[in-house]
Parts: sequence; C-alpha cells; structure tokens
Amino acid sequence: MTAELATIIDFIRYGASRFGEADVTFGHSYDNALDEATHLVLQTLHLPHDLSPAYGQARLTSAEKQAVLDLFERRVRERTPVAYLTGKAWFAGLEFITDRRALVPRSPIAELIQNGFSPWLDGRDVGRALDLCTGSGCIGIAMASYNPDWQVDLVDISDEALSLARENIDYQDVGACVRAICSDLFTGIPGEKYDLIVSNPPYVTESEFAALPAEYAHEPKLGLTAGSDGLDFALRILAEAPAHLTEHGVLIVEVGESERALVERLPEVPFNWVEFAVGAMGVFVIDRADLVAHAPAILAAAAARG
Ligand SMILES: C[S@@+](CC[C@H](N)C(=O)[O-])C[C@H]1O[C@@H](n2cnc3c(N)ncnc32)[C@H](O)[C@@H]1O
Repeated sequence: MTAELATIIDFIRYGASRFGEADVTFGHSYDNALDEATHLVLQTLHLPHDLSPAYGQARLTSAEKQAVLDLFERRVRERTPVAYLTGKAWFAGLEFITDRRALVPRSPIAELIQNGFSPWLDGRDVGRALDLCTGSGCIGIAMASYNPDWQVDLVDISDEALSLARENIDYQDVGACVRAICSDLFTGIPGEKYDLIVSNPPYVTESEFAALPAEYAHEPKLGLTAGSDGLDFALRILAEAPAHLTEHGVLIVEVGESERALVERLPEVPFNWVEFAVGAMGVFVIDRADLVAHAPAILAAAAARG
C-alpha cells in the first residue's frame, strides 16, 4: 500500500480517510479529519504548519512513510488524541508542548486572548493576571505572550501538569513574567490579588464522564471531573475569587455544558455569557463588584456542597 501513497497530499488524504472510516472522535485540537491528518503529517515530517501548498506534491522517504502510517494506526487503534501523538498543539496561535501530564489545549478562551478580551477589559488596566487550573499553562502563557507587560501566575494542584507548564514557559520564553505555583485553587496563594482571573477548571459531571469517547481516557481525570453537576470547582472559584481580585477586577470562567446547572443554582447572579465566533461555549465573565453583591447566595451554594 505504501507504494500507492507518495506525496504529502497523498498521506493527508489517506489519513483523513482512515480517521473517517474508523469514526474517531474529533475536538481535542481540531474538529475534522483533514485538519487532524494535516497536523499529524506536517509534525511528523518536521515541517511548518503553514507550509506552502506547493510542497504538497513533495514525496516522502520510506522511513517517513512508515513513521506517518504508524501514527495514523495509533490514532485509530488507541484513540490517542493527535496532539499527544505529535507532542505539540496550537493554542491562540502559539505552539505548546503537549502530553498526558495535562489536558490537550482547546479552550475557547483562546479567542478572548487573541482579541484582547474585548469588550470585557476595555478601559481597564491589567498588571497582574491569574490562570487558575492551568494544566499545560496554555491560557496563562498565551495571556503573557500577547500582553508582555502583564505579570501572570499559573496555578494547578497537579505537579505533573505544572512540570509541563514550566516546560511551556521556557518553550514560549515568557519566564520573565510568568511563574507556576502548586495550589489547591486559591489555598496556596493567600493574599495574592489580580486584576484578571481566568479559569478553565474541571467541569464534566460524573455521568457525562462515563459516556465520553475513548479519546478522553488518555487525559488526566483530575482535569475533567467536577462532581454530580460539574460545579464543584466553579462554585468554589465564585466564592473565593473576590478576596483575590482587585477592586475593579474581572473573573472569567469556562463551565461548558454545566452552564445550565450554574444558572439554575444561582439565577440571580448576573453572569455575562461570552458569544464566540462559533457561538456560546459556556464561558462567563463577571466583575468583582457583582460577585460581592451576590456573595450571600454564592457562599450559600458553595457551602451547601460541604
Ligand atoms: C480542564 S483542565 C484545564 C487545563 C488548561 N487550563 C486548559 O485550558 O487546557 C483543569 C485543570 O485543573 C487542575 N485542577 C484540578 N483540581 C484542581 C484544584 N483543586 N486546584 C487547582 N487546579 C486543579 C487539573 O490538574 C487540570 O490541569
């Protein structure tokens, strides 16, 4: 079969067909078979992601063919996300080192970072920002990369995730303004205050987790599950954030499908749900002032969980 496949385009087309035939699940980095196959082929050949189409007709060596086919087969057989196979993922236009120490970067918050958090931060000065539940570090490192005058802290409870985040700090060369801290949410950073707190915490319910496609089993469960309604972390963050936000500070949190449960739990809290290019994605923005105004209801909801 390898004799029939010769060029870069051949292999991208073949990979996409294999993925489609095997019905793999997309969504960890790309939402379709052709983009996944392109990423996998170009990464394996050590070629840039924006390779000129003119090179599409370039032929692979036998060794390169075997390396690409081996990864296609692993993608199909093991259902390993393509970013773990190549060790690299793109997030907010930046390349990150990616492996099983942390989730594959894919938060829609990338779009907010790339558009300067407009309109949510318009007219506000940010000096310090926090990426809470940082995983690979992608959100906080991208914030620092796009805003070199910000000081950014990355927090995670997982030493493994933090070791990957530190590699990404070096990889993106943002060590002068980013530090990684091991902490259970805010517990390990008493007294620290930020103008902006951004978080993509675990928010998958236990029942949703049980039904997830096989790709997700390659990711650390610690990064996904958040109790019976997915709100274990979101409610703690809402309750504890005011103490760590400056007076005009802003909190941005991704809760995905748990948006509905959160709105049912706290109907009176004025969450602003972000509209992304692809639509709503369960990301809210809220000012510290609104968190303080609704603190009794938020604290009661958080305390009710024990
Ligand atoms: C959904 S992942 C998000 C990772 C990264 N922010 C991203 O967008 O790719 C959630 C992260 O929260 C971390 N985490 C889980 N429990 C935590 C806790 N109690 N305190 C801090 N981080 C926690 C996990 O280790 C995981 O890296």
